[in-house]
Amino acid sequence: MIVASTIASCRSELNQWRQAGLSIALVPTMGYFHEGHLALMRKGRELCDRVVASLFVNPTQFGPHEDLAVYPSDYDGDCRKADQTGVNLLFSPKTDLMYQQAHQTTVQVHELTKGLCGKDRPGHFQGVTTVVAKLFNIIQPDFAIFGEKDFQQLVVIRRMVADLDFPVKIIGHPIVREKDGLAMSSRNVYLTPEERRSACILSKTMHVTRDAVLAAADHLSVSALLSQAKTLISGEKNCSLEYFTIVDEHSLTPCDVVKGKCRAMGALRVNERIRLIDNMPLY
Ligand code: PAF
Repeated sequence: MIVASTIASCRSELNQWRQAGLSIALVPTMGYFHEGHLALMRKGRELCDRVVASLFVNPTQFGPHEDLAVYPSDYDGDCRKADQTGVNLLFSPKTDLMYQQAHQTTVQVHELTKGLCGKDRPGHFQGVTTVVAKLFNIIQPDFAIFGEKDFQQLVVIRRMVADLDFPVKIIGHPIVREKDGLAMSSRNVYLTPEERRSACILSKTMHVTRDAVLAAADHLSVSALLSQAKTLISGEKNCSLEYFTIVDEHSLTPCDVVKGKCRAMGALRVNERIRLIDNMPLY
């Protein structure tokens, strides 16, 4: 595996692959790799001749009181895992390379970023779309693969790609879960064993909601499902709910009845310190 920390060294490698007619998949990440990341890399291998993973903890997508300073990292472990999973090039730039001192350009998707996580994390999605647009321009991949755990991020990126005509195909990969159901996330490392047991209420509630929808003979009303979900989560110690909602998968607007491609989406705080998200298709 080649490790590139400058745009020039990354591009010179990519140019050789392109000249040889090889297709390129990009897996954008912030590192601290777990099975969820590795599944995206494997998907990249399936789709393309070469896989590039980017490892960059993007400061512009963190709010002033968020966990940028303590975001988990394991550079050597990440290099080893990416290499073993078949990544051909790891692009690992420093912050001042990605953001020149004088930078003043951003990319913003307006409507899709207003609700859900956008409400609790102002500026977050603008940071994401700006850095992902930069990565697309640097790498120019044929495919880019994102996990569905950040489902709103995936929908926002699809919109950006369509609106700005990026010549890249976006692939969403289903959530990879721990044995206890918790969606894999680099942030799970913040949880104590007790908090971890409490945190599982989010995925359990997703499953209960999905089971109710799949078992129903007719389209269910969302209000009954949401009140059941909120009761379940409010009964769990250490947890406070940021949101739990059922939305249309494409527009991310709330549904009144569960019909078509709907998805349960939720965000939870464990002991106020740790914010976790999850989602599940209801079809
Ligand atoms: O999903 C993530 O890890 C990040 O939001 C991404 C897409 C790598 C952009 O920094």
